[in-house]
Amino acid sequence: MPPLRIGMVGGGTIGGGVYELIMGRLKEERPYSPRSSSKHSKQSQVCRKRPLWITKVCVKDLSKPRSFHLDEEITTMTTNVDSILNDPNIDMVVEVMGGTGLAKKVVEEGLMKGKMVVTANKALLANHLESIQGLVNQIQEAQDKQLLQHQQEQQLYMYNMPLPVASCFGFEAAVCAGIPIIHTLQTCYAGDVIHQIQGICNGTTNYILEKMKNGASMEEALLETQDLGYAEEDPNEDIEGFDVRVKICLLAKLAFGLTVPVQDVPCRGITLLERIDFEYAKVLGCTIKLVGTAQRLHEAREWDGPLSVYVSPLMVPKDHVLARISSHGNAVAITSANMGTCSYLGPGAGRFPTANSVVADICRIADGQQGPAFPIEAPPHLELDLDYIAIF
Ligand code: NAP
Ligand code: HSE
Repeated sequence: MPPLRIGMVGGGTIGGGVYELIMGRLKEERPYSPRSSSKHSKQSQVCRKRPLWITKVCVKDLSKPRSFHLDEEITTMTTNVDSILNDPNIDMVVEVMGGTGLAKKVVEEGLMKGKMVVTANKALLANHLESIQGLVNQIQEAQDKQLLQHQQEQQLYMYNMPLPVASCFGFEAAVCAGIPIIHTLQTCYAGDVIHQIQGICNGTTNYILEKMKNGASMEEALLETQDLGYAEEDPNEDIEGFDVRVKICLLAKLAFGLTVPVQDVPCRGITLLERIDFEYAKVLGCTIKLVGTAQRLHEAREWDGPLSVYVSPLMVPKDHVLARISSHGNAVAITSANMGTCSYLGPGAGRFPTANSVVADICRIADGQQGPAFPIEAPPHLELDLDYIAIF
């Protein structure tokens, strides 16, 4: 099978991790064959069915030192996203650049040009999942038709069922990095009714709060998260709660089908917290966590009731699962009609946990697997109530 050629936009913390996982392993596991100097002797073992090659990486500044070892025989560096989008030899675009401007063009044009697309970009999806979803659906429908026609021509009917069309879009890394929460929401709750999602879905603030609990200042702890590769380029996104806000909006879209206007969601970060707050929390047997919440205000089996979405620091009882995650973790607790509360824990930021989710999407799509159904339709009586915020 010929290699799947990937053009990656972004070569920073996450892009570097993706490059290492795909191309670094390629070097370790399949070094140049002594019998052949051909590039085709290099075969990545990351994806079971098809070798993966990252043939182009687009960055902003070519002179910057990189945190990955570039394989110059296979990969060229560029600063021009069009050289990836317009390259007919590139099968898949991986967007790990961030932002909602150029990144939107990369994702949408990539899809329109018939390329598979994987992104880790929560801000883009929280704001534009609806339109990107429409585009993906159109593409899949067109592919379905093509496949059906092909099957008819070749008389390939299998019990009158068309063969499934492989998915062309993935975004597992966008929320909670290494925790497969997006896949879980898209697949495991199909027959259930979710009442509430609560998430500690920002690694930076979770780390900072753990350090502050033990006496560190927010500023000291923030510096450490920058070294760990957790913090956003503008760390106000983390400490003001804005990063959690986009993530909870995206989770709400997947869980409830409603598009939540990000800017309207009540949001408090951790900047107003003082040492005395941590002392009170201790006295009360609690710990302070920055939590994103999306909850139906009237618990009901039916698909109705106002949906409240907000971000706030909360006093969490020490024996609650959200209180027990490590300083490097994230956690999401989902309460649903059939399952009660299920919790999903794991590494929620950083290079390799995030890169792992990106690479999992790449492999799933490269393997030709079908994607999960795109977000559910919102039930007609589910409305947003963005006046509600629980604060401690
Ligand atoms: P980053 O380290 O800042 O890397 C961004 C990369 O994009 C850099 O290589 C940068 O180039 C490149 N870039 C920026 N603007 C560009 C432009 N106009 N043209 C071409 N390239 C451009 O960011 P990151 O932490 O890897 O995050 C990437 C994405 O992953 C974001 O969407 C983020 O939200 C998401 N994510 C991150 C984490 C995490 O823990 N860091 C976790 C989950 C999801 P230069 O290197 O030349 O500046
Ligand atoms: N800044 C984000 C965090 C990166 O700390 O969780 C992962 O999305």
